[in-house]
Amino acid sequence: MTQMAFSMRRKFSLSTYYLLAAAVLFVSCHSQKESAEMNSKTLSGANASFKPGEVWLEDNGQPINAHGGGLLFRNKTYYWYGEVRGKGASRGVNVYSSKDLYNWKHEGLALAQVQDTTSDITVGCIMERPKVIYNEKTKKYVMWFHLELKGKGYSAARAGVAVSDNPTGPFIFLKSFRPNGNMSRDMGLFVDDDGKAYHIYSSRENYDLRIALLTDDFLSPTTKDSLLFSKHREAPALFKYKNNYYLITSGCTGWDPNKASLHVAASLFGPWQYVGDPMVGPGAELTFGGQSTFVLPVQGKKDAFVFMADKWKPKDLADSRYLWLPVSFKNDVPFIEWKDEWKLSDLDHNLQTNK
Ligand code: GAL
Repeated sequence: MTQMAFSMRRKFSLSTYYLLAAAVLFVSCHSQKESAEMNSKTLSGANASFKPGEVWLEDNGQPINAHGGGLLFRNKTYYWYGEVRGKGASRGVNVYSSKDLYNWKHEGLALAQVQDTTSDITVGCIMERPKVIYNEKTKKYVMWFHLELKGKGYSAARAGVAVSDNPTGPFIFLKSFRPNGNMSRDMGLFVDDDGKAYHIYSSRENYDLRIALLTDDFLSPTTKDSLLFSKHREAPALFKYKNNYYLITSGCTGWDPNKASLHVAASLFGPWQYVGDPMVGPGAELTFGGQSTFVLPVQGKKDAFVFMADKWKPKDLADSRYLWLPVSFKNDVPFIEWKDEWKLSDLDHNLQTNK
């Protein structure tokens, strides 16, 4: 063998060795990663846990696009309504459906913006924080959302109302207005045990938080419309636990996270008492980077709630992430702790340790 042939063979066998080593390393890392992922997935590849802040894919493998949203439970199905965002721009309201809260099917646009330039929801308007409730009397699904008119920034401060015969829409846009003449930006809806529904909204440049009882058809506010408190709060998420009403809100710092607060009242019209910051542990002082949008009562579990927030990404709003976290209780006072990953069964434990 010549010197050259020898060194070529040595080079070949060395590089083969390196290649093999790299392949072994790759396969072992890959299978480690895969088995970590398998822990939170069922054998069919479906999700079996929540991973707050991670990209959440729907059944077709696309990231869920439903920001500032809220959920409705009907016909043994959860429906998730939220803002469709495309690189910052508002594109309407999406709806997804799920049986288990982990796995979601995209049902399409529940409410689309329209080409008609005379419509309040013409393309270019801003639709935020949509919420849908079901009216037992009219058998209609009623959507309320925060609407800003095209080209007017955030100055219109209106509530929009749309209606549908089906939970997945399409919803028909009815009207937009300032409830009882009041500015209306961040908002939520709440249906009480007696079937009455309420609109909770930030008003007077977000300095006031107000609540209005809705008409029986849920399509309009009544004049029973009152101030909850003037503390410059927004992103209201209201829920009822053991005959008390709880309201989580954020401060007003645009897309940037801030400190949440919790208020409690025995009646929706107050008086509302400040409890404190319901977030606990590392990251709590900035709501773990998120902003409240909804608190979901979990079906089939007594006193079990999921706190939902948006971790906004203003440069690419579509990629804003969802923070869903379990609501825990201590001496019957709700609080929320960060979890990298959790399951609905954790809520049972939360209730058992409510002492
Ligand atoms: C936030 C509000 C969001 C959106 C944003 C626009 O304060 O909660 O829904 O309106 O401002 O900057």
